[in-house]
Order: sequence, then C-alpha cells, then structure tokens
Amino acid sequence: MKKLCTFFTGILLTFTTNTIMAQEKTTKILVLIYSDNGGTYELAKEVAKGIESDQHVTAVVKQAKVSVNPKLKDIPVATVEELPTYDGIAFGSPVYFGNISTGMSEFLSKTTDLWTNHALEGMPATVFMSAGSGAGKELALQSFWNSLAVHGMVLVSNGIRGYENIDKNIPQGNSVLGTTSLASLKNTARPSESERYLAALQGKNFAKVASALKGTFSKTVTAKETKQLSINDVLNEKNIVLPTLPKSVGNYELFSRSGNLVFINQVSLKDGKILNAGKLGIDVNEEQVQEATKQTMLNIIAILKDAVGGDLNKVKKCVQLVGTFNTTADYTKHADLMNVASNLTVEIFGEKGKHTRNTGGAYSLPVGSSVSISAIFEVE
Ligand SMILES: Cc1cc2nc3c(=O)[nH]c(=O)nc-3n(C[C@H](O)[C@H](O)[C@H](O)COP(=O)(O)O)c2cc1C
Repeated sequence: MKKLCTFFTGILLTFTTNTIMAQEKTTKILVLIYSDNGGTYELAKEVAKGIESDQHVTAVVKQAKVSVNPKLKDIPVATVEELPTYDGIAFGSPVYFGNISTGMSEFLSKTTDLWTNHALEGMPATVFMSAGSGAGKELALQSFWNSLAVHGMVLVSNGIRGYENIDKNIPQGNSVLGTTSLASLKNTARPSESERYLAALQGKNFAKVASALKGTFSKTVTAKETKQLSINDVLNEKNIVLPTLPKSVGNYELFSRSGNLVFINQVSLKDGKILNAGKLGIDVNEEQVQEATKQTMLNIIAILKDAVGGDLNKVKKCVQLVGTFNTTADYTKHADLMNVASNLTVEIFGEKGKHTRNTGGAYSLPVGSSVSISAIFEVE
C-alpha cells in the first residue's frame, strides 16, 4: 500500500513539475501600437501571428492611447507601468515626418520612471511602422530605435530576412530595421501580401529572440505598478465580479467620453432583466432597492472598465454620482439607499472613489427600475 502511495505521489509530482515548467516556458510579448487609420494595426496583427506561430509564446496587442477610430476602439490600452512585466515588446507606429507618431511619442515620454529604474534594460524590442509613400521611413525606424536604445533595450533588427520571397514588381516596405507598409501606394491593397509576410516573419524571429532572452533581465516592477495593480486585487479580494456589459437599446452609447471625463447612466439591469423592479413601499422594500442599487453601480463600473480600455487603474476620480429612486411621495431616506453605490465606489477605488452626490425620488423610472444612477468619472 505504502509503495502504491509513493508511486502515485511520484506521478503527481512529475505531472505538477511538468505543468509548472510548461507554464514557466510561456513567453509573453506585448505588441504595442499607436495607429490613426488602422495601417499599423494591420501590421500588428501579422506581427502577432508570427509571434504566436511558436506555441510557447503569446502576443498581446495593445495601443498606446484611446483611439477615436471605430476600427481600433476595442483594442485595450496599455499602461506605462505594465511594460516591465513582458518578455519583449514589438512597437508599431505610423511614420510622421520621418519620425515616430505623436501618439507613440507621447506614450514614450511617460516612460521616464521606467528609464531611471532601468526597468526595460536588457528586454528585447523590435519596431514596425506604417508609412504613406515611405519617404523617410528608415529615419523614422531609426528614431524609434533611438528612444528604445536609451532604455537599454536589446534591439532586434530584420536584416534582409525574407527578401527572396517578396514580390519585387511593386514597391515594398521592407527595411533592415523593421517592416513598414507603404500605405499611400494604392496599386495594391496595403499592407501588401509581401509586407504582411515580412511582418509575420519579424514577429516569428522576435519570439525566438525573446524566448532565448527570457529570464536574463529583471522584470522590475515599479512602485507605481504595485499601486496600479491594487484595483484588480481589490476586486479579487472582495470577490466583486463585474457583470457582462449591458447592451444599449436605442440610439445612444453606453458611455460618452469628453476629454478626460466619462459619463455613464444605468438602471438595475441584470442578465437582460431589471432586478427588483417597481416602486419602493408598494412593489419592493428598501433591502430590494439597495440590492438593485448595487447592481446598477456594478453595471456602471463594468461600462467604465470598457471606457478605459479594460484597465480600471486609469480611473483618476469618481467626480459625481446622481441616484434617482422610484418611491412614494412621502419617502425621505434616499441617502440610505444611495449609500450602497457610494460605499461600493469607495470600496473599489479608495480615495479616488470619493465623490459629490445627489439623490432624489421619482414617480416612475425607465423599464420599471426601482433605481437609476448617473455617474461622472475622471480618467487618464
Ligand atoms: C503628420 C503626418 C506626417 C506624416 N509623415 C509621413 C512621412 O514622413 N513619410 C511617410 O511615408 N508618410 C507620412 N505620413 C503618412 C502616414 O505615415 C501614413 O498615413 C500611415 O499609414 C498612417 O498609419 P496608420 O494607418 O496606422 O494611422 C504622415 C502622416 C501624418 C498625419
């Protein structure tokens, strides 16, 4: 019996060790882009495909800032602080006047803390760009390299990799420093097949280098990063699960962003139905309205998460909450109901969750909801 136990324990240990080793082997690469018209994103998808052609490597495509282009609006936005957590970064940008684009430049200019902490030193980087005619494309690639060299990143070039296989009857964006696409030359779809091929090849080679260098540099996590992880930690620790996004049922958006302010209005929708619908004192009691208030606020925070590209650490402040409750005319304890929303917001965002507030009663609310909340947040 003892021998049998030892045998099974051995198998279990081998299995666990193998699983851990397999997990440790996974290399994670960030494909970080800025794009105006989507050309850079098209190249990024090919780079990511090339990276993931190695089954032990994953590619995460993120953008440097929120885009107004509908084609790009669902791509999550990267934080500066998350950069050191990867095993390599492939940077993509449009060419602007023989340089990197303003959007990418803005993002890089926020990385001085990482620089002074040597946080990206020794991490491999590669670059690709979408150009118009291609005028100054090598200057632009070179300028990208300049910034990354200052960080001490290991710059992975293309050389003439893949040159034999590209279509030489039309101009192509091949370059030894990184793949580009010549987007304004419209005699063929851009990125051209050859440019896509080169981008994928670049990704594949980059994955090989990143896997080889994995673990050879310290993934320094800055104090800011530790702080920024805390909202996810709070959600996990407090077992707060954000609902799936409700759908808009009319000619309006779930959120509207103006400058750094995000505006959101919600009722107590849960799984497509209104939770605890009706008038307080007639159809529902205070406890039920408080439950509906919590659901409404969770809906708002789920939408807010979408508005900040999936990263709630980008919320700088809850500016204001306005809660309206479906009550009888003589009801006065609206504040007790609204406290549920206020407390939840402070519980999640800490000091940043403190807000001004207004509450009120209404004769009726849309779709019979017992509560509706309007929220304004300031975000990065
Ligand atoms: C301000 C500005 C400057 C540009 N300068 C250049 C340039 O020097 N060389 C070039 O080939 N294209 C230039 N372009 C064109 C863009 O690089 C090209 O449209 C690119 O494909 C845009 O990438 P995207 O689709 O990812 O936004 C410039 C565009 C803008 C808006």
